[in-house]
Amino acid sequence: MGIDDRVLIFDTTLRDGEQSPGCSMTQPEKLRVAKALAELGVDVIEAGFPAASKGDFESVNAVAREVRGPIIAALARCAREDIEIAAKAIAPAAHGRLHVFLATSAIHREFKLGMAREEIVRRAVQGVRWAREHCADVEFSPEDASRTELDFLAEVVEAVIEAGATTINIPDTVGYTVPDEFAEVFRYLRRNVRGIEKARLSVHCHDDLGLAVANSLTAVANGARQVECTINGIGERAGNCALEEVVMALKTRESHFKCRTNINTTRLYPTSRLVSSITGVAVPRNKAIVGENAFAHESGIHQHGMLKNAQTYEIMRPEDVGLLRSSLVLGKHSGRHAFRERVRSLGFELEEAELNRVFEGFKALADRKKELFDGDIEALVLNAEGHESSPWSLAAFEVSSRFGEDAQVTLTLRHTDGREVSANGRGDGPIDAAFKAVETATALTLRFRKFEVRALTVGEDAQAEAVINVEHGNRSYRGVAVSTNIVEGGVNALLEVINRIELAQRNASRQPANADRDAIAGAANPAA
Ligand code: KIV
Ligand code: ZN
Repeated sequence: MGIDDRVLIFDTTLRDGEQSPGCSMTQPEKLRVAKALAELGVDVIEAGFPAASKGDFESVNAVAREVRGPIIAALARCAREDIEIAAKAIAPAAHGRLHVFLATSAIHREFKLGMAREEIVRRAVQGVRWAREHCADVEFSPEDASRTELDFLAEVVEAVIEAGATTINIPDTVGYTVPDEFAEVFRYLRRNVRGIEKARLSVHCHDDLGLAVANSLTAVANGARQVECTINGIGERAGNCALEEVVMALKTRESHFKCRTNINTTRLYPTSRLVSSITGVAVPRNKAIVGENAFAHESGIHQHGMLKNAQTYEIMRPEDVGLLRSSLVLGKHSGRHAFRERVRSLGFELEEAELNRVFEGFKALADRKKELFDGDIEALVLNAEGHESSPWSLAAFEVSSRFGEDAQVTLTLRHTDGREVSANGRGDGPIDAAFKAVETATALTLRFRKFEVRALTVGEDAQAEAVINVEHGNRSYRGVAVSTNIVEGGVNALLEVINRIELAQRNASRQPANADRDAIAGAANPAA
């Protein structure tokens, strides 16, 4: 296979994925995901939409400063201030890209933009020219391309290539197209756009009809050489094309597509777990490639076939996507060496200090739980990463709960400044009582929006992941923690949020107002 058979993987988990409800991430979380994406081998990381908010600008800027390997892209509308802010955000990247977009379909022209066709062409060309003033690598997306008249789409694409766009991305913004029809869009553009060979063709599909991966593969079969996708398919509404699915389809059916990607597929499963743990959005059990059941065989006939030859019922090897088959792993007598090996084989490389911290958590858990599964160890690692500077921690708690009566919780929290604060809470069940006690101890009032608990492994002593959504001031926060005890898990998830609020307040009082950043925030408009 030659250079033309390489399909670039453009990951937009941090932009299209993050902008969907329930998936927002803090800056340190975005950095963790960006580093994991670099390890996975994606070609482009779309790190955000810098003009949307000061926080978005700072996250894109941090990714551009700290992540090496992939191209770092930032999204901007065809507006000078958007493009300038985006250019500033990606300036520290070794290789940056500006991604400008403008809607082209009749419905968007009439109802969203109020612009005639000529105006759209003029603005798209202007946007690309402004972007080229800052960056040699410029991508243009005609938003809602799949519902745009083909002749007009071709006219816009030809004009922006002439203006200097180096990648042309064709989005199915509303997840409306179907494979045959989408194939024709790519064939039409390749036949009718003068200069099309000067740009790389890209595809960006949403999953409203469950066709995002199929439509993206069709685009590849018809000349697209970049696929835009997200980990676990998170994204606006029903989500985006799932990275792990499109990558494994190209790999498993390589002889059909005759294309390859640069993805280290053994990093797919750990990256999926990381994104799920950070966003709190669970991966469905039956999700292709990374779901818990994706490689499980229950029926006797299937198990019999599998024992004779795994290929009877498996088209991919679990280890190729980073999933290890072992179920029962370690117990309380296991040593640090065995633990380190297990952590490594699960796809995590930890520094010595971090490994020691996780090992302590492992020993404490092994005292409470007879058998530790891979899922338990993964949860310990994912929860320990990035938690080293948390001000508040839970020191002790006691729960009393009787049928027909309010529950009561007494707890003690420890602060890194040396304080130990005890408080009582009474409420409708132990979780409600525990949250009230935490609010009293930390003197913070929060509005609780959602609390969910889900078992991570099997058995009566399984660990549970507690996910909490709260509001404080005018911001929403999400905390995640893992424990075999749901009160402890719930309190730790809540403390994760409270620690973030306290650290943010400390940072805000330390940093004098930065005129540059304020100017950026003032110029920003809400995301399109
Ligand atoms: O779905 C879409 O059209 C987009 C563009 C900004 C590429 O996300
Ligand atoms: Zn999109």
